[in-house]
Amino acid sequence: MNLPRQVRMVEVGARDGLQNEAVPVATSDKIAFIDRLSEAGLPVVEVTSFVSPRAVPQMQDAAEVMAGIKRRPLVVYPVLVPNRQGCLAALAAGAEEIALFTAASETFAQRNTNCSIAGSLERCAVIADLALARGVRIRGYISCVAGCPYEGPVDVGTVAGIAARLTELGCYEISLGDTIGIATPGQVQGLLEVVAEQVPIPRLAVHFHDTYGQALANILAALECGITVVDSSVAGLGGCPFAPGASGNVASEDVLYMLNGLGIDTGVDLDRLIEAGLFICGRLNRGTGSKVAMARTGRCG
Ligand code: HMG
Ligand code: MG
Repeated sequence: MNLPRQVRMVEVGARDGLQNEAVPVATSDKIAFIDRLSEAGLPVVEVTSFVSPRAVPQMQDAAEVMAGIKRRPLVVYPVLVPNRQGCLAALAAGAEEIALFTAASETFAQRNTNCSIAGSLERCAVIADLALARGVRIRGYISCVAGCPYEGPVDVGTVAGIAARLTELGCYEISLGDTIGIATPGQVQGLLEVVAEQVPIPRLAVHFHDTYGQALANILAALECGITVVDSSVAGLGGCPFAPGASGNVASEDVLYMLNGLGIDTGVDLDRLIEAGLFICGRLNRGTGSKVAMARTGRCG
């Protein structure tokens, strides 16, 4: 196998993970969780999202969370932003990196952001201008790259075109989101081949939800294609409230265990990562979704 020597792990548990939790998590617990994640050596810890509190009530304390975390040197703390209003709030909160997002499916774009794909790309352009003018980096997400919960199959050419547009807007990286965890490894490699015709592999990341249990296999398939940036969520938390039936993201502990086994360097400490996952699961009063955390702690969830 031709695999990279290093992978950058992008931890999305505090945003993608918690956004799907119906019971409010105390702001102080979110802050303690994020600090544990960065202390585990994760290079990127997505903190929160500046979205409508009506759309995602769990994220309404975004500014307080940003103000409370200890920002460690060299750790990047992106925040997710859907529009101008969210962007201005994120910048006021001192965001140094903004994640903007759109989808490869019209129906999902409508459900998630109340606008068309074209409309969301216009919003992305506004966010990009505001952020880049202040020297804030932008990263783009595309949802439903392997299928949509409402429309079914998604055209890979559409994904590639949107990736190209987000790159034109100034995104330094595009994260390809399998929002409903439906992809299989061959499909991932086919998708990457088509997208890479428009956006080079070093500027792409993968973001797998694990609904069908394919995420680790998909990540390995992506690594074989040269991908070196992998999004994941500690304890396998997560899902999108606007993607019915979608389960959590691939668990960061499980990704790290696989990368360690392959001799791929990440700089992340597995024990501390497991501890961060158990901390937040304790606060959520639920078991971990990480197989590795279960195996290491003798728990069954
Ligand atoms: P809208 O209702 O069309 O917005 O929502 P609007 O501009 O008409 O404003 C309506 C109200 O919302 C107003 O308040 C605004 O102030 C407020 P009112 O005057 O009625 O009291 N509002 C805001 N408040 C705070 N922050 C804001 C904001 N914007 C408007 N930024 C909107 C459109 C996009 C805002 C809404 O649909 C929204 O917030 N959607 C976000 C949904 C979301 O967070 N989804 C999950 C994240 S994406 C994801 O998980 C996928 C990913 O992980 C990759 C993958 O797995 O595929 C990234
Ligand atoms: Mg996601």
